[in-house]
Amino acid sequence: MAIAGILGTGSALPEKVLTNADLEKMVKTSDQWITERTGIKARHIAAPEEKTSTLSVKAARRALEMAGISPLDLGLIICATVTPDMPLPSTAAFIQTELGAKDCCAFDLVAACSGFLFGITTAEQFIKTGKSKYALVIGAEILSRFVDYQDRGTCILFGDGAAAGVLGIATPPAGILAAEVHTNGRHADHLFIPAGGTVKPASEDTVQAREHYIKMRGNELFKIAVRNMEEVSRRVLATAKVCTEDLNLFIPHQANQRITDAVCERLKVDPGRVYSNISHVGNTSSASIPICLDECVRSGRIQKGDLILMTAFGAGITWGATLMRW
Ligand SMILES: CC(C)(COP(=O)(O)OP(=O)(O)OC[C@H]1O[C@@H](n2cnc3c(N)ncnc32)[C@H](O)[C@@H]1OP(=O)(O)O)[C@@H](O)C(=O)NCCC(=O)NCCS
Repeated sequence: MAIAGILGTGSALPEKVLTNADLEKMVKTSDQWITERTGIKARHIAAPEEKTSTLSVKAARRALEMAGISPLDLGLIICATVTPDMPLPSTAAFIQTELGAKDCCAFDLVAACSGFLFGITTAEQFIKTGKSKYALVIGAEILSRFVDYQDRGTCILFGDGAAAGVLGIATPPAGILAAEVHTNGRHADHLFIPAGGTVKPASEDTVQAREHYIKMRGNELFKIAVRNMEEVSRRVLATAKVCTEDLNLFIPHQANQRITDAVCERLKVDPGRVYSNISHVGNTSSASIPICLDECVRSGRIQKGDLILMTAFGAGITWGATLMRW
């Protein structure tokens, strides 16, 4: 059976930058604490007129251009996001219209920071079965609209951004070689937004209680993130019968530099083969991995034939890994 691969990538970061020095003026924190505990120095913040679909469309156009295909060729559009333009309809619907794509299947996917990997695993099935010739998978977030800038435990971590990948039939030996995606809802209370859904519809009380903002148990998540990303990476490598020494590049979700370091140490990945942009991008949830991927492709860090492992972890909790040859 033919295998799917990523044919083009694109990303978009908002212009405005929020530095640790800026945050020092907003909450009781310091550049030193944030840098030492997370590795983050700055993150991008969307302008008031920018929507999740605005960033998505910018990223998607760049990915389509690299892949050399028209929006009219798309059979599937998946927008992985936890920060949609609005609860109804899907952000993918707005993206489809803005791009000028046909009436193809377009939907949003909620898997938080693992969203892009969930998206490409889903799109891969459409491509392999011949259901779609080309699929567009986007990871896009404007987390700054859901972050409580009075909560120093979360507001230092998150940033805004979007990135996209165009999938189609790959030319061997390139393509997606192995992938796994998982969810464990028993830890849903580790990272969530309490209000705005059916449990607690928006009301004056929920706004007063700041319940429309992200709540997180950072410490608990940290440990599970390291363990799950290590384990799923090992399994995906084993499925493809390769080992960490074979990897040209390892792209972990950018949640915290200490999480990345711990995962790499456990997997024994050569630090020179690990990509990190967390210092200037922060955690952009579903956009994190594809932004890294696009930066590596465009800078020449990824070369034809390279073996690349991506792994992610996020709210849900969700996690997964994808191994591909470029
Ligand atoms: C959030 C995170 C950076 C906190 O780092 P940590 O080393 O675990 O810190 P703790 O939560 O144990 O807090 C240690 C102390 O620092 C304080 N602290 C927390 N945030 C702070 C900040 N921004 N500035 C200064 N101090 C801070 C805490 O209040 C606590 O103080 P105390 O000891 O007096 O109670 C870290 O847990 C993390 O990155 N977790 C993963 C989160 C994540 O990735 N979420 C998304 C999943 S994709």
